[in-house]
Amino acid sequence: MRTQLLLAALLGSVNAIRIIHANDDGWAELYTRSFHEALLAAGHDTVLSAPAENKSGTGSSDAEPSPRTTACQYNSCAPSNAPIGRNESSPRLNWVNSFPLTSMRYGIDVISPSFWNNEPAELAVSGPNVGSNLYAQVHFSGTVGSAVFASKERKIPAIAFSGLTGGTLAWNTTPVPTRSLVYAQVASKLVDAVVAAGKPYLPEDVFLNVNLPKVEGECTDASKYKFVLSRINLGVFSQKDVAQCGSDRLPMEAVVTGTKGCYVSVSVGDANDKTTASADKQKIVRDKLQGLFTCLP
Ligand SMILES: *[C@@H]1O[C@H](CO)[C@@H](O)[C@H](O)[C@H]1NC(C)=O
Ligand SMILES: *[C@@H]1O[C@H](CO)[C@@H](O)[C@H](O)[C@H]1NC(C)=O
Repeated sequence: MRTQLLLAALLGSVNAIRIIHANDDGWAELYTRSFHEALLAAGHDTVLSAPAENKSGTGSSDAEPSPRTTACQYNSCAPSNAPIGRNESSPRLNWVNSFPLTSMRYGIDVISPSFWNNEPAELAVSGPNVGSNLYAQVHFSGTVGSAVFASKERKIPAIAFSGLTGGTLAWNTTPVPTRSLVYAQVASKLVDAVVAAGKPYLPEDVFLNVNLPKVEGECTDASKYKFVLSRINLGVFSQKDVAQCGSDRLPMEAVVTGTKGCYVSVSVGDANDKTTASADKQKIVRDKLQGLFTCLP
């Protein structure tokens, strides 16, 4: 890790930042571990803090972590009676015996400060979730719940990632399946674009809800993925969206991920209520990431 950071500094990629990372599928889920590795490889200083077991679908629940009396998911930790723990040989990998939001909260407030000389996280990410978080799913998603907490309660810009291809995988699955690697690479690419656009990375009280299409056909190649600005909920009676691709109504996420050609939906979410953010906030994100976004065919 230290070598990677040093290398990044020597190469002049000064865009290495402090990233706190959570999820809702559990700390030992492979999509999350692959993303952790990709962030490290990109030179970022990242710390994982995620639930001890699968806590998918628990939205914004929060509770003080309780003693872990049984092994963590996939037998990834021994029963310890401790409420939080870590991989002693890779201390950046931490588990919290509670909800996704709680793991983000502990990651920010309790676990990461010792890695960063008490400097705060500059960016919060969660996922990639095993399966989509589109439209109505957003409300129940712990992946989204943890990102929204970081944005709203800690004022840390936050991105929730989800991958449409499901199927759970333990952290030590070998070889690492393509889908886990592809999602990690594409998510890391978006992080790098956000970081390269400079601070503030996102407007206050928003989060990005990102859904990656199925890894199949040409979409088994990370370089084929394209990013499209989308909206979370139906917009029939809503205020106009930011003008994009010749329309003042952004496409729904499922339309984006369902279009043939490896399109990733990127919605600007309102961290107050998990709905689509206002056009003025969408515009800030669109302008910052202009070079990243493309239009649907
Ligand atoms: C977690 O549980 C949900 C259902 O509660 C399931 O859909 C999902 O695949 C599980 N994820 C993992 C990583 O086990
Ligand atoms: C803990 O870290 C070691 C060394 O990086 C690794 O070999 C092992 O698989 C990890 N275990 C878990 C559960 O993270």
